[in-house]
Amino acid sequence: MTAQAGICAEPNLHAHYLFFNMLPGRHTEVRHKLGAVPALWRQLAADYPDAAFSGLVAIGHDCWDELYPQARPSELSAFPAQGAGERAAPATPFDLFFQLRADRLDVAYIAVQKVMALLAGLVTLQDERQGFRYLDCRDMTGFVDGTENPEGAHRAEVALVAEGPFAGGSYVHVQRYHHRMARWQQLTVKEQENVYGRTKADNIEYASADKPLTAHTKRTSLKDAAGNSLEILRQSMPWGSATEQGLMFISCCHTPRHFTRMLESMYQGDGAGHFDHLTLYTRPETGAAFFAPSEGWLLSQGE
Ligand code: HEM
Repeated sequence: MTAQAGICAEPNLHAHYLFFNMLPGRHTEVRHKLGAVPALWRQLAADYPDAAFSGLVAIGHDCWDELYPQARPSELSAFPAQGAGERAAPATPFDLFFQLRADRLDVAYIAVQKVMALLAGLVTLQDERQGFRYLDCRDMTGFVDGTENPEGAHRAEVALVAEGPFAGGSYVHVQRYHHRMARWQQLTVKEQENVYGRTKADNIEYASADKPLTAHTKRTSLKDAAGNSLEILRQSMPWGSATEQGLMFISCCHTPRHFTRMLESMYQGDGAGHFDHLTLYTRPETGAAFFAPSEGWLLSQGE
């Protein structure tokens, strides 16, 4: 089954993110409209071959059964909210998530207008955000993001369900992080590097023995009981305005379990008080769980 191109897309320059809820009683019409989405993605890619356009639509766990009552991805479940107070990762469900990516801002914007026209009168827009490449693929905290992501054919192995009725689909988790930039900028560069467990300017990983147990890369680098690495494919990009900055964090995986284990490890730590110190400097304002079906699935259900 052909996966939607946005799941495994290579990093590029611009993104536009749209989050919708369905209007009551409109699920049949929305299902039909989503059947037209694969053709829309192909048309945009063909019309603007220089723009490396990729599209992705993902369906929220809350509204899946209403949209597609016949069958449900077996592991699709609620966003695994964490913590409380200052250090919390809340669950804020949405019905539909669109990731529209291109190397041209105008093409990403054309895609936004096409999606808005497709769903007019059927949904309400809950949130939108523009993402962009910052310097050499850095997060707004100044560190290169995505270095340890899977590469080449391995991206699909990590991100896509391999077999069964939902083959070619992906479990997608999205969090809109808002950075506490003033607090972050009070740290020395060495203190910032200790938060990630990597150097800032040249992006070198700390030796394992030098990595604090509270380092982001320590807390998210996990193995299963058999010693296999738990991997996700991160498609995150920075967002920003004159007064606020952050990261649209996006995880795509063949199972939701890897993201869940990592988020628990970041927020709950190792049981000995070592939580991820990155969570002191950035706060997720949203958190939602989705499934992005293959193009074939969307088409077959839209008929
Ligand atoms: C690694 C940034 C949230 C999972 C990294 C790296 C940076 C980074 C700079 C090191 C370079 C790299 O390999 O990409 C951020 C920021 C976040 C954030 C700014 C939030 C604002 C998350 C979340 C998860 C996650 C929520 C998963 C639940 C990972 C993983 C790695 C990583 C798996 C690779 C670890 C390794 O194998 O070394 N992140 N991250 N990140 N991050 Fe995050």
